[in-house]
Order: sequence, then structure tokens, then C-alpha cells
Amino acid sequence: RRTYDFVIAANRLPVDRVVTDDGEVEWQRSPGGLVTAMESVMRGREAAWVGWSGQADEAPEPFLENDLLLVPIELTAQEVASYYEGHSNDSLWPIYHDVIVPATFRRRWAAAYEKVNRRFAQKCAEVAAPGATVWIHDYQLQLVPRMLRVLRPDVRIGWFNHIPFPPVELFAQLPMRHTILKGLLGADFLGFQRPADAENFLRACRRLLGAKTKGDVVDVPDTDRRVRAAGVPISIDAAGLSELAQTDGVQARAAEIREQLGNPKTILLGVDRLDYTKGIRHRMKAFGELLTDGRLDPADTMLVQVASPSRERVAAYRELRHQVERTVGNINGAHSPIGSTAVTYMHRSFPREEMAALYCVADVMLVTPLRDGMNLVAKEYVTCHDGPGALVLSEFTGAANELKQAFRCNPHDIEALKHTILAAIDAPEAERTKRMRALRRQVARNDVQRWASNYLDALKYAPDKPPA
Ligand code: G6P
Repeated sequence: RRTYDFVIAANRLPVDRVVTDDGEVEWQRSPGGLVTAMESVMRGREAAWVGWSGQADEAPEPFLENDLLLVPIELTAQEVASYYEGHSNDSLWPIYHDVIVPATFRRRWAAAYEKVNRRFAQKCAEVAAPGATVWIHDYQLQLVPRMLRVLRPDVRIGWFNHIPFPPVELFAQLPMRHTILKGLLGADFLGFQRPADAENFLRACRRLLGAKTKGDVVDVPDTDRRVRAAGVPISIDAAGLSELAQTDGVQARAAEIREQLGNPKTILLGVDRLDYTKGIRHRMKAFGELLTDGRLDPADTMLVQVASPSRERVAAYRELRHQVERTVGNINGAHSPIGSTAVTYMHRSFPREEMAALYCVADVMLVTPLRDGMNLVAKEYVTCHDGPGALVLSEFTGAANELKQAFRCNPHDIEALKHTILAAIDAPEAERTKRMRALRRQVARNDVQRWASNYLDALKYAPDKPPA
């Protein structure tokens, strides 16, 4: 069978297998920032992408999508519950996001995580050509680098974390902490969203493994290997998205949306996976209070919130959904004028064109996570919106490191958040135009292609040369 010089591994394939009501199988684009970014990077490359199809107990044969070979990994229903919903999203996700909700640890989840990571490593080893580059993604696959190195010492191994890497004080809670650090140190280069995440990782290696570090390079204990860990912030396909936003179809749809919303003076927009890290409740609270205080008038200001369904079988996500939906109901009950709603809430996903149109009509974009590795929605908004918009951006996102012209906020401080929202709405048009122009330039210059080439260069020039 054919092998590839370039292999990527991520928990999900770029498309999800969906069986429709009439029993038809469809492949739909998978959710989340990882796929948004990697899909554009991989377009037109000859490569293999190893990942899960999004459905339990299904292992479709590998298939080609243009030049990309998609290689499905099978997960049983029990593995979906233990490796994916359990260890990845109920143990690691909360620890890596500042314990916004408490983490749950279960020994059998951890065992399933190891088992599934081994399956990914084996599959990568099968499809990688001699001397290939294998690029592993995100927190679900942290043991793969070391497992793969044992199987295939000839390949170049990179890993990139799409989410934050926690301070050692939180990381140390993980029962699997040593295994994870050693697993990651199987790579040649480890990429993180921010330099601060790489520093957290280096500190954990010193503190928990007693490893020596020099600058951003770790000496791997008991070997003569060295591994570099550095920040390489991810981005979006800015040119492609901006082109899409300017098409007649999207522009017409944007005008239509404004019309459908009743031509309000100000449209505020939130776009998130329905996740407790995104600060959706804080944003709603601030908006609701601004209406109650009479500082915003529901007759001319409205909030549109897209909350795409996510990880619905994990208790914390179900609970969040109830809270958000109750709050939306309360705000609308108290404030909606006849014939319109203060908050337009949509618990579903939309195609790219509709998202681009929404970004175009939003006068103020609210991006208020309590913790976020990057947040690509912030970058998508400034790329699409071609007028005097405004971006309210939490300082706890990776994006805040780069998007300096945003209206910066601490979402925990509701009074300050209210103040920042008003400042964004009321800023003079000239100021908003100027800020948006600077933001758009920033993202256009540092797009996803540039990120990928920065990353792959760092991997190529990582401290240790591969064995001859
Ligand atoms: C984040 C993670 C991705 C994940 C995505 C969607 O962006 O970094 O690894 O794929 O969320 O979450 P899900 O659990 O549905 O894959």
C-alpha cells in the first residue's frame, strides 16, 4: 500500500460521517478551530490525515479527498465515552483551561486514552514513508509522539497544541502527568499557541521530570535527545475568507440579515462552540444588565448569539446549555419589544457563507472567553468585516497577544465588561475604522499559511537531526 512523506494526525478527520434521517451517509465539515486552520493548510498537499470519523463503531476504508488521503481510526462507543468524552474532555480540557469547571479523573478513562493513542501511533507508522514528517495535533494525542518514535525512529515528529498549556500547579493534578510529559518529549519540536504555554511546559519538565532546560530546549532525561518547545500562534486563511466575504452572495445575504433583524442601529454578535470556556454566560449577563440599567435600548440594539452544539454528552456542557438558554429566556422575557427579540439565539451550526455574512453585519463582535488557546473567531471577524466595526476581546485568549487594536476586556469583571461593550459601541467611526484596519492587516500578514511554514521550519531545524 502507498505511504506518504507528510502525515498528520488529529482526533478528528476534517469531515464527520453523518447518517441523515433517511439513512443516507453524508460527510460534513467537522467543528472547531483545528479543522478550520488545518483544512486550509492541507488543501492541495499530497498527504495522509489520520483521525476519527466522529461516529462510534465505524471504520470506513481510507478514502481520497482531492490529494489528501483520509485514514479513519475506529473508536468503539465505549472508547468515545472514555478516551474522548472522558479523559480528553472531562479530565484534560478542564485542567488545560484553568479549571473553570472541576476536572474528573477515572483510571479507566486514562487507560482508554493510552490505548487509543497507541492505535493512532500504529496507524501513523503504517502510512508514513521512510523519513516522513508526521505532524500530531492537540491534547487528545499527547502520547502519540513517544509511541511513534519507538515504532518509527526514522520519521520527523512534530506536535502542536491548539489549546492552552496549563501552569504546572494545575498540570500537576493530572494522575497521568509524567506519562504525558514523556509522551510529548518523543517529538522533535513542540509548538504552542503562546510563548507562555511553552514556558509552562518547560517548567513542568523541570519540576516534574527533573529535566534540564536551556532557553527553549529540553534535555530529555535518560537519553541524549533534545526537544524544542516554542510559541507559534495559529491563524486563518485570511485571503480566502476575505474573498468569500466580498462576494455578491455574501454581501446580499448580509444586507438581508440586517433587514430580517428589523434594521437595528447596533448588532452585537457572539459566535462560539457552546463551551464553558467561551464566557457566554458572562457576556449575556453584561448585555442583560445594560438593558436593565437602561444604558442600551432593546429597540435599537440586539445581540445575535450563535452557539454551535458541542460535546453534548458531557455533563458540564449540558448544564451550560441549560444555563445559557434560561438566561436568554430571561433577557428576552424582560426586554424584547413586540415583533423582535433582544437576544437572537441559535443553537446550531451554519455554513461558512452564512457565518461570513453574520460577521459582515455585526457592528460589535463579542469574544469573551475565560480561557482560550487562540480563538479564530476574532480573526475571522476582523477579516470579513469591511467597515467601522469593533472587536471586544478577552485578554485570556491567545488572540489578545496579537490583536492589540481590539477593545480588551476581563470577562470576569462584569462592570468593566459592560463599560467596554459601551465603549466599543460608542467609539467614533473614525477610531473604529482605524482600529479595524490595523487588525485586518495584522491577520492578513500572519495568516495560516505563514503559521504552517513557521511551524514546519521550526520542526525541520529542531535541535536534533534525524538518524541517518
Ligand atoms: C477545539 C479543539 C479541537 C476540537 C474542537 C472541537 O478547537 O482544539 O481539537 O476538535 O475544539 O471539539 P470536538 O470535541 O467536537 O472535536
